[in-house]
Amino acid sequence: MALWSGRFTEDVSEFTQRFGASLPVDKQLYAQDIAGSKAHARMLGARGVISQDDVSAIVAGLDRIQARIEAGEFPFDINDEDIHMSIEKALIADIGEAGARLHTGRSRNDQVVTDTRLFAKQRCIDLMHANLELRHALVDAAKQNADVILPGYTHMQHAQPVFLSHHLLAYAHMFARDFKRLESARAAADVCPLGSAALAGTTYPLDRRMTAEELGFGGVTANSLDAVSDRDFLLDLSYAASVSCIHLSRLAEELVLWSTSEFGFITMSDAYSTGSSIMPQKKNPDFAELIRGKSGRVVGDLVALLVTLKSLPLAYNKDLQEDKEGAIDAARTLEDCYTCMTGMISTMRVNADAMRAQVNKGYLAATDVADYLAKKGLPFRRAHEIVGHLVLLCDRRGCGLEDLSLDDFKAESDLFEADITGQLDAESIADARTTEGGTGRSAIAQQMALVEKALGEDEASL
Ligand code: ARG
Repeated sequence: MALWSGRFTEDVSEFTQRFGASLPVDKQLYAQDIAGSKAHARMLGARGVISQDDVSAIVAGLDRIQARIEAGEFPFDINDEDIHMSIEKALIADIGEAGARLHTGRSRNDQVVTDTRLFAKQRCIDLMHANLELRHALVDAAKQNADVILPGYTHMQHAQPVFLSHHLLAYAHMFARDFKRLESARAAADVCPLGSAALAGTTYPLDRRMTAEELGFGGVTANSLDAVSDRDFLLDLSYAASVSCIHLSRLAEELVLWSTSEFGFITMSDAYSTGSSIMPQKKNPDFAELIRGKSGRVVGDLVALLVTLKSLPLAYNKDLQEDKEGAIDAARTLEDCYTCMTGMISTMRVNADAMRAQVNKGYLAATDVADYLAKKGLPFRRAHEIVGHLVLLCDRRGCGLEDLSLDDFKAESDLFEADITGQLDAESIADARTTEGGTGRSAIAQQMALVEKALGEDEASL
């Protein structure tokens, strides 16, 4: 029979026992549960609700249980509904009466959400560390490839030349924003609900701030009904994980594309590729594909939790037991994806020549030729049209803008002078984009300083 079975005369069926249990998932929270129970016991002792002897017995008993769990010797029993029941039952079996006093002034409703908040805080920190690793890898790759140029795309068509470092740093910025989202999810989890009891608080003279402080929380929740049913902090974590997975999926997609023989922009390291069981020549970017695919389940975890919380009346409802599995999965998946992407970025080979070869296709200098005319006083719309004619001419001849003669240019506009032919190489075009945030190398150097400053600040914040 369960620890709450006093008013029951029959056991639940084997099926409902299994259906109602959360132990297979929440046993991952054993350390948080034990820390929460130790803090609660010490506070009960400090307030004279239980004796100091009981406190010592409880703390020692909980330490023994933790050691047994960590040694793989704890007999998890499927008949226990959850980790809280498992541990409390084992404690009572070990130390008797004192163990049976632990749950004074506490409910599993405030206990479970305390454990979950502790867990979420730690996972946010783990994820922030993994996020920093990935940003470092992107910065390193950007520095190593500072002079590599490739076509920048819009609509997947060649648009204007950009430096690879600029392209890679775009992702560093996305992941820097994700760091902030994780940081704010951590802050959302950082309030202690213990003392809210089942839903209404308790008659015992608890010192909620003492427990909160011992557990490292920044504060205590202000409304017991909200406290036992609030899972916004898990939504925040799942949302932060989802956005970051979306960013990872965008990068993964580019790596998949770039490793095709059509692009050949990068060669993925063997360590991040797999072969085919039938086609001996194959080298597939499986892990980039997997990162792209895993974003789906993480977004699914977020949506599942949103829908679980929708329309839930106050206060605790058993629906809330469904909160942990998805959030735990989202955090683990994101952490693995960060680790995998960090490895892929730091081991991939950049094929600068293949990138450079594409820069020469697609009239990437067209905007600059139009700007040349506009800077000489021609309205930009007119300049745009003239360059359109030049592109048509190139199309017919099968050449690039840089292959046209001064006479070809002059046939379209008198404003063209000899200097036009010397300005159309990709590096000059890219370097001329010196606006803040632009692709010119001087602008990238400023941007790099900002990226590294943010990295340093984020690192110091942990
Ligand atoms: N296993 C439950 C959960 O994960 C713990 C809280 C249960 N409380 C209750 N009164 N049934 O949410």
